[in-house]
Amino acid sequence: MPGTVDVLKRFTSIMRDPLSFLLEMTESFGDSIPFNLPDEKARLINHPDLIEHVLLTNNKNYSKKTPQFETFAYVAGNGLLNSDGAFWLRQRRIAQPAFHQRKINQMIETMQTETQNKLEAWQSLPPDTIVDMEQEMLQLTLGITMKALFSMDISGQEAEMVKTIEETLGYVMFRAQVMVPIPPTWPLPVNRRFQKAMKTLDAFVYEMIEQRRQASEPIDDVLSIFIDAKDEAGAPLPDEVIRDEILTLIIAGYETAASGMTWLWALLAEHVDESQKLRQELADVLNGRIPTLEDLPKLPYLKQSIQEGWRLYPPSWVITRSAIEDDEIGGEPIAADTLVIISPYTMHRHPTIWPDPLAFKPERFAEENGRSRYAYIPFGGGPRLCIGNTFAEMETMIIMGTLAQYFSPEPLTSPPHQTRSLVTIRPKGGLPVKLHPLTP
Ligand code: HEM
Repeated sequence: MPGTVDVLKRFTSIMRDPLSFLLEMTESFGDSIPFNLPDEKARLINHPDLIEHVLLTNNKNYSKKTPQFETFAYVAGNGLLNSDGAFWLRQRRIAQPAFHQRKINQMIETMQTETQNKLEAWQSLPPDTIVDMEQEMLQLTLGITMKALFSMDISGQEAEMVKTIEETLGYVMFRAQVMVPIPPTWPLPVNRRFQKAMKTLDAFVYEMIEQRRQASEPIDDVLSIFIDAKDEAGAPLPDEVIRDEILTLIIAGYETAASGMTWLWALLAEHVDESQKLRQELADVLNGRIPTLEDLPKLPYLKQSIQEGWRLYPPSWVITRSAIEDDEIGGEPIAADTLVIISPYTMHRHPTIWPDPLAFKPERFAEENGRSRYAYIPFGGGPRLCIGNTFAEMETMIIMGTLAQYFSPEPLTSPPHQTRSLVTIRPKGGLPVKLHPLTP
């Protein structure tokens, strides 16, 4: 077991490169690693059975009162991702119907239209134009999220809005990483930039709520679900509560999906045989068309490639919980208040569970292979399973299935691409690519 001093010595490297730190820990110390952080006990667990215990079997004993979620709350308040207990359950029950498969199926048209617009925008560029694929994906998924969930058309404002959100997320990560906490009220440039960005976001979201309250026609979307919802006493939810949920869905919904696709583009560029196989499947089934709902089950290799991308680069690279009462995980005692750390990134690279873990092999997902459900956790698991998992899968299939037929983006930097861990895993410096056109 690494002791306090050992971990403290590495503290700067933890903050600078947490993914390498987590991998190093699992490679050196096994599947259940207790260690001491400056002001709390922590345990990193890296085995499906242990993860299942925390996320599912005894999930009631594990809260979200952890630095990870407290940090996110600076931006998104007490929304679904952060809240706990009875309040979380009520809010989840309100939101859940909007994410049923039947509802997601109705959102496909928005995904198709926005993807078609992106395709046409790329086609209007001279061949081999350089774009930042990370930005392209962030703007595309933000546009889709706003339209599909909130009926908001933000055409032309995507870049500005991505910048504003990134400003807020960058700030909260900065706060989490500096050793000496800086009071947010100090008149420092970082604080001022954050407050300005938050003001812009808040104004935008409160305006959405206000406009919807005054809409003359009923609109069937997630925003209306929250506006029409009632609390236990039959009163409407306060605007602040609706604001937290909307901002949570926007941020949780677009950045994760964009991160997954950015990495998938990089992986496909690096693995010529696999991308050839994918393009062949797309040509056979689609012949240049945008996928429809009926096409999706006929594109197994596309789905497997996406799953494999999420395995190697799970956008949500860390999931944390705090033990409420003393417990045992896999026979090891866990004291109350222990910070439990689960990393989809290290779990998905566990060498005895994933043979040849660093290789990009979409076929791994082709058939049942007896792996535990909790060996693959890009969307978490148990009651706190990602509410947007089917949305994300459909959106990613539509976008990748369309754009990969027409373009073969070539990264300007060679792999391995360095990672940076914001809320999601991102390539350091974005992913500048040359957009090579293809004829489907
Ligand atoms: C590839 C894309 C996505 C990934 C990898 C992802 C990942 C995750 C993970 C790992 C969790 C669980 C966190 C925990 O247990 O602490 C989660 C929760 C959540 N995700 Fe996603 N997500 C994605 C897309 C989406 C989308 C598209 C939406 C909304 C439209 C969304 C909204 C949420 C919300 C609201 C929660 C909190 C659910 C709850 O606790 O009740 N996510 N996501």
